[in-house]
Amino acid sequence: MKVCIVGASGKLGRYMVQHSLDRGHEVAGVCREKSVEKLDAFRGRITIVPGATNNREVIKKAVAGCDGVLTVLVPWGVHGYSTGTAQAVLDYAPPGARLVFSSGWHITRDGQDVYSWKLKMFVKVFGWLARLVGFADVDDQVEACKRVFASDTRWTVVRGSDLEEGESQGLPVWSRHVGDPILESNITRRVDFALFMVRALEDDDLIHEAPAIVGRQSPSALRNAGVK
Ligand SMILES: NC(=O)c1ccc[n+]([C@@H]2O[C@H](COP(=O)([O-])OP(=O)(O)OC[C@H]3O[C@@H](n4cnc5c(N)ncnc54)[C@H](OP(=O)(O)O)[C@@H]3O)[C@@H](O)[C@H]2O)c1
Repeated sequence: MKVCIVGASGKLGRYMVQHSLDRGHEVAGVCREKSVEKLDAFRGRITIVPGATNNREVIKKAVAGCDGVLTVLVPWGVHGYSTGTAQAVLDYAPPGARLVFSSGWHITRDGQDVYSWKLKMFVKVFGWLARLVGFADVDDQVEACKRVFASDTRWTVVRGSDLEEGESQGLPVWSRHVGDPILESNITRRVDFALFMVRALEDDDLIHEAPAIVGRQSPSALRNAGVK
């Protein structure tokens, strides 16, 4: 596959570059100009399109001819960065391409997710403070995902739990709704979040799904193994 990774220089992005190369995909990465050097380890093995990920011309160029697009949706700033990024990908990815977006558990597709008071409080307080100081806008990521959910593209929105670094534990397990017992541990290795994103490109069962993921070796995943 020819795969475009939007937000390639971040932690999640770099893991996705590595997994994509391991899978034999041809990779084009989009990242901010000042972050290009963070991709030095992949020099000569990937194409880099420098620029802001909400720059429509940058995205148009980067996704041309791609079979799949992996997009890191981040709520940084208060000027619709996530929404601009998602909309550009939706508008310019070739028809029929597999589109996989990253987000957190706080995104809900159908309102059926059940959140802990801790998560609700965090989103409320962090969201309010971050917007106040112009650092981030959680609602921007919410709007970006709404647009993805409403689109008729072949999308998947992968909703990550809390993340940690560490060696791979294999492909995370998932559920449609936060609050399901299998997700209770709320922890995933970042390298495995990236693995799930890359594998989703080839998993048609995930089209039009918003899987909430958790580490395969996490206690709740092990406790509920085999239970669907
Ligand atoms: N962190 C968590 O605990 C967590 C939990 C659940 C889900 N997620 C989801 O996982 C995804 C990636 O999360 P991550 O924490 O692993 O982050 P990450 O991979 O480090 O990605 C951060 C991204 O944001 C970009 N960025 C940073 N500052 C920016 C700015 N001021 N303006 C524009 N872009 C900026 C980075 O680009 P540069 O390389 O150019 O800086 C990078 O592409 C997100 O979709 C997030 O919702 C994260």
